[in-house]
Amino acid sequence: MINSIDRRRFLGLAATAGAALTVPASPLRAMNSNNKLIVGVMGMGGRGIRLAKICEQQPNVEVAYVCDVDRQRADKAVAEVAKVADGRSPKALTDFRRILDDPSVDALVIATSNHWHAPATILGCQAGKHVYVEKPCSHNAREGEWMVQAARKYRRRVQMGNQRRSWPAIKEAVDRLRNGEIGRVYHAQAWYLNDRGSIGHGKPAPVPDGLDYDLWQGPAPRRPFRDNILHYNWHWFWHWGNGELGNNGVHSLDLCRWGLGVDYPTQVTSVGGRYRYDDDQETPDTNVVAFTFDGGKMIRWEGLSCNRMPEGQSNDLVFHGENGSLAIHGGGYTVYDDKGKAVRNSPGDGGDEIHVVNFLNAVRNGEALTSEIEEGHKSTLLCHLGNISYRTGRTLNCSPKDGRILGDRKAMDLWGRDYADGWEERIRP
Ligand SMILES: NC(=O)c1ccc[n+]([C@@H]2O[C@H](COP(=O)([O-])OP(=O)(O)OC[C@H]3O[C@@H](n4cnc5c(N)ncnc54)[C@H](O)[C@@H]3O)[C@@H](O)[C@H]2O)c1
Repeated sequence: MINSIDRRRFLGLAATAGAALTVPASPLRAMNSNNKLIVGVMGMGGRGIRLAKICEQQPNVEVAYVCDVDRQRADKAVAEVAKVADGRSPKALTDFRRILDDPSVDALVIATSNHWHAPATILGCQAGKHVYVEKPCSHNAREGEWMVQAARKYRRRVQMGNQRRSWPAIKEAVDRLRNGEIGRVYHAQAWYLNDRGSIGHGKPAPVPDGLDYDLWQGPAPRRPFRDNILHYNWHWFWHWGNGELGNNGVHSLDLCRWGLGVDYPTQVTSVGGRYRYDDDQETPDTNVVAFTFDGGKMIRWEGLSCNRMPEGQSNDLVFHGENGSLAIHGGGYTVYDDKGKAVRNSPGDGGDEIHVVNFLNAVRNGEALTSEIEEGHKSTLLCHLGNISYRTGRTLNCSPKDGRILGDRKAMDLWGRDYADGWEERIRP
């Protein structure tokens, strides 16, 4: 149960968001006189720091705020960004409402834990900010639908952080698929492997100094603090995270969907378990998920969170077509003929910068987004459906129109989530 102080606090948040509910007249805001883009970043783990530095290093872009509910992380982020900031320092915040309150801020970058992605995006849109939100864009399917609606309603640019869509060699590979280089493409197989350790069995513990655990929980119903959740391990609890499928699977599922040219699946089956360690982790460490689509196409994803391939391979995907196959590895790709012989090899670099710059250009001058939120939602939805199939232990039949689950009320119960008091009203468009 949320207590009355929490309730007042979050009603305060509602007031902040509500105060900014005017729908901006134009999708792009009038820039300040220098045409400088002002950015605020929330969630200053490894990812947030990386994104803040990239933003700060772009011409005529200023990271005005770095925000983390963990004061130590916010302070560390100031020092990190200052290293690339040409004598300037962003301001450290622990409460992202101050970013929303500042009318000079054009864009909000969100690199928090997943349960905050959609709520912060929607509040950002309500406050007139354009949003770059990390993958997976939502904690659950319904939030993804709300994000798309919010981006449309408030006419904001919203991009998901699935940066592989921007990598030049991968774009080239997808063009080759589309141009029929391996004939009709009907199957994509992707996998992710890692050698993560156990998260152990957590104990109730005092909230560490400098951490606003109440604001960290934000839209999620309250749970007492335990010593094996923060940071990062929240990924492995359904209350806040989406397991390996939503963590790393979403990157390759997005490319599979793009390469095959499919949107919503008609059937989803997930099998697996938490086999490697006896600990608190709820999400599977060993998982195979299959998605079928209208038009005779299928995606298969395999995740092993606690094992490596013998040769250390971690993350790859292969498309199969009538005349051969195309493998994507890192930032490059190889085309094989129908006997498995390599006929074309194109190495390529990865990196995050092109994707972030695309977002900044979209805000500044209307460039088309590479991964507009509706596409981000479709790819993230594959993860949510895979997780719902895993949690219910059965195959889901879905509508090819919007991915909604057909004829299974219990499975549809997992389409959304319960919220802390007042939150659903605040973020539902
Ligand atoms: N695109 C990519 O390649 C990529 C790579 C790594 C991580 N990510 C994504 O980025 C996100 C962050 O990943 P990470 O590894 O840095 O995680 P992390 O757990 O180390 O960091 C998340 C940070 O967000 C902070 N936070 C949570 N709620 C907040 C709030 N309301 N306001 C301000 N700060 C808040 C936490 O205190 C923490 O410091 C995840 O969603 C992850 O999936 C994407």
